[in-house]
Amino acid sequence: MSKKLKKDTISSKAGIATDKEHGSVVPPLYLSSNFAFKKFGKEQKYNYTRSANPTRDILASALTKLEGGSGGIITSSGMSAISLIASILEINDRVILPHDCYGGTFRLFSSLEKKGSLNTRFMDQSNLEELNANIQEYKPNLIWIETPSNPLLQSVDIKTICKQAKQVKALVAVDNTFLSPALQNPLKLGADIVIHSTTKYINGHSDVVGGAVIAKKKETFDKINFWANNLGLTGAPFDSYLTLRGLRTLSLRMKTHEKNAAALAQVLSNNKKVKTVYYPGLEHHSSHEIAKKQQNGFGGMLSFELKGGLPAVKKFFKKVKHFSLADSLGGFESLVCHPYTMTQAPLTDKEKEFSGITQGLIRISAGLEDIDDLISGLKKGLD
Ligand SMILES: Cc1ncc(COP(=O)(O)O)c(C=O)c1O
Repeated sequence: MSKKLKKDTISSKAGIATDKEHGSVVPPLYLSSNFAFKKFGKEQKYNYTRSANPTRDILASALTKLEGGSGGIITSSGMSAISLIASILEINDRVILPHDCYGGTFRLFSSLEKKGSLNTRFMDQSNLEELNANIQEYKPNLIWIETPSNPLLQSVDIKTICKQAKQVKALVAVDNTFLSPALQNPLKLGADIVIHSTTKYINGHSDVVGGAVIAKKKETFDKINFWANNLGLTGAPFDSYLTLRGLRTLSLRMKTHEKNAAALAQVLSNNKKVKTVYYPGLEHHSSHEIAKKQQNGFGGMLSFELKGGLPAVKKFFKKVKHFSLADSLGGFESLVCHPYTMTQAPLTDKEKEFSGITQGLIRISAGLEDIDDLISGLKKGLD
């Protein structure tokens, strides 16, 4: 496939009409765990599904093209994609991470530090001067970025951080889960690695847990690919099949997610019971300018803080309609969640305070329902 194809064409065409056996238009699903040798001493392209699989490869190749990388690996979850990056580090390597990253990322890197595998420094990466001072002094081997962050939607300047990282030869990995390749391409801004929880927008149908790692350079890809096979972190073919099906409609879905999120953010902004609304599309959001500059859209996620803390939150969850109270995000269905007790539960109360997660905070994943119904369902919770 030509490099010049536009994103929607890449997603639509991935693997289409490549079946030489029967001419099936949609690429077949290869569930087989193993592939026969042509003859003794002569392997075919594939031999064992943990190492490589044709169905998984179509998804990996499409995501690699969408992100502008040289190679990609499909993993069994977003967390296995993150573990894979942690596994390419050497013992005692140093990692700078955002103080407001996804709770699972925080838990993984903190646990690895506790058992003596690596060293971490969690910090506010939006303060570029302070970050640079830390980079110069700490000399990290890896800088982990999650932008926009979960759940406060703070975006950080990928391009500038990558320039700072280069001065100390640190790798930069970006968790691009919240925007998907439709709305942000970190490799094009200078990052070395992109990871995704494909569980979210890329699959988009809330029926697969999966992940992906895409590397800019071939040598980085080779290293990551070695560890993916070594540790057995690669994803199941059926999951790849479903995720590829989701990918076909990614950019269409992202447009509606964003439209609905923007409308909900407006409703919340005009409601007296709401203290703060976190949506980068709102001009007062602290990341509005950087989001406008480096993203192709503001995305479908937003958070808001209710006046009245936990008691108000409990009442809201009891009354809200058309939003399921559940973890996860990025599916066709609208969700609400309480980051304090759900996604950010691995953090201590002090750590939550440090990253701005209050008891009154509610996160919304705007789905694809009709916006009039979503607004009336949200108002039921607020009223
Ligand atoms: C930003 C982000 N990264 C990574 C993950 C982990 O992904 P998974 O649940 O697929 O392991 C999540 C999960 O919610 C997430 O929100």
